[in-house]
Amino acid sequence: MITERVDFLVIGSGVAGLRAAFEAAEAGSVYVITKDTLKESSTEYAQGGVAVALCDEDTIGIHFEDTIKAGDGLCKDEAVLTLVNEGPERIMELISWGAEFDKSDSKLIFTLEAAHSRRRILHAHGDSTGREIERVLIKKAMSMPQIKKYSFAYFLDLIVFDGRCCGAYMLRDGQITAVLAGAVILATGGAGQVYSRTTNPLVATGDGIAAAYRAGAAMSDMEFVQFHPTSLYASGAPQFLISEALRGEGAVIRNIHKERFMQLYHNDSELATRDVVARAIVSEMARTNSHYVYLDITHLDKDYIKQRFPRIYKTCLQYDIDITAELIPVSPSAHYMMGGVRTDIDGRTNIRGLYAAGEVACTGVHGANRLASNSLLEGLVFGARAGRTAVEERADIKDIGSKLLLSVTQGRIENPDEIRSTIRRVMWEKAGIIRSAESLDEALEVLKSLGSIADRTYLTRYENEIKNILQTAELIVKSAIERKDSIGAHYRSD
Ligand code: SIN
Repeated sequence: MITERVDFLVIGSGVAGLRAAFEAAEAGSVYVITKDTLKESSTEYAQGGVAVALCDEDTIGIHFEDTIKAGDGLCKDEAVLTLVNEGPERIMELISWGAEFDKSDSKLIFTLEAAHSRRRILHAHGDSTGREIERVLIKKAMSMPQIKKYSFAYFLDLIVFDGRCCGAYMLRDGQITAVLAGAVILATGGAGQVYSRTTNPLVATGDGIAAAYRAGAAMSDMEFVQFHPTSLYASGAPQFLISEALRGEGAVIRNIHKERFMQLYHNDSELATRDVVARAIVSEMARTNSHYVYLDITHLDKDYIKQRFPRIYKTCLQYDIDITAELIPVSPSAHYMMGGVRTDIDGRTNIRGLYAAGEVACTGVHGANRLASNSLLEGLVFGARAGRTAVEERADIKDIGSKLLLSVTQGRIENPDEIRSTIRRVMWEKAGIIRSAESLDEALEVLKSLGSIADRTYLTRYENEIKNILQTAELIVKSAIERKDSIGAHYRSD
């Protein structure tokens, strides 16, 4: 097996990973490994924006309160305080590196999203905020020779020796390499691909969650999966996200009879928290025997819509929906993991030498339901903190030579497409927006019947992704079974 050595290994190249890498690069050599191109992460697809208390009418205290309220009593105060306090500095720093958020007369524009009591969402190019942030971070990473970037390097497993994480195995061009590192930062993002309906890109297969679990990391809050209320539901179209920012700008939701209904479910109507809106849509779809509802923004000025939401406008038009004149068919999709690898606010996991940040991590900042647009901020704030902790606590790179013992089964998964689809469908149907003891038990039974897949390591990315989807699904279902009451995004019909 090939062995390489580096001071810091960062796994994942989205907002949290790159922000962590910048800190680490101040202190030594860094590898950033990612299984696709550098920019292919959920960050790149984030539309609505980044929430930050920088607007004149806003305060850090109000951002704190809104986040806590959305989290339905399960947020960790310390994590939320860290997020809202350090958020403004991280955003100003990003602007100093060249990020261009939308402005009017040289003043930043803040929009509203659901459950925010102030206009505090910065956006870029209308609805391509994540893309702009990723552009700036990649540009900066490219200018730092101490950061070596490995794209198409699939992260297989962590190397843990004597209770310390001292590296990871990566699969590249069919070859496994053991990368030994003084500290490892996990920033692999989420796991939306566990579900058959998701807004997430194909790369979001829970690799970091599953690998950390295999290595003995403690997990938290895995039952809390956020379902975004509005993803495109059109024949032949992907479940493309239709940003919450549309509702912030006045879009309303209608059932298939074109009647508004959100006011019947919550006082805040379309601007209630995401979990409330997603469940209301599911109820209304059931009541009207439909697979979708409509989002309606046609009352706004045509040119304004095109200029404010250019990406959504163009994408919908590809599927022959002109959002300036027609209703957009939408339905909920899996969107964000509130749970993940448990960390403290400095990115430490329970395994020495292993740090985690961003969607793969669970600091407790989101509680049972994430406040819209808090996740890019989370990646910046906690990515930087995890990077700094890794610098402070890194160890000498171990020479564990013959102890590199990854067991690789060279066999294939039989019928991988079928198995992947079975897992994703059962998760959507039995462990989705509305669950019960019965449906969760049924899901667990199906997942367990596929359990042997998880005992092996494969020599292709696709097969390893299926294994990670399966293991992440099992963690979600087992946690959901344990939590008997309904709270936030975890809703039990029983
Ligand atoms: C959106 O634009 O609706 C998504 C933003 C987020 O998930 O925070």
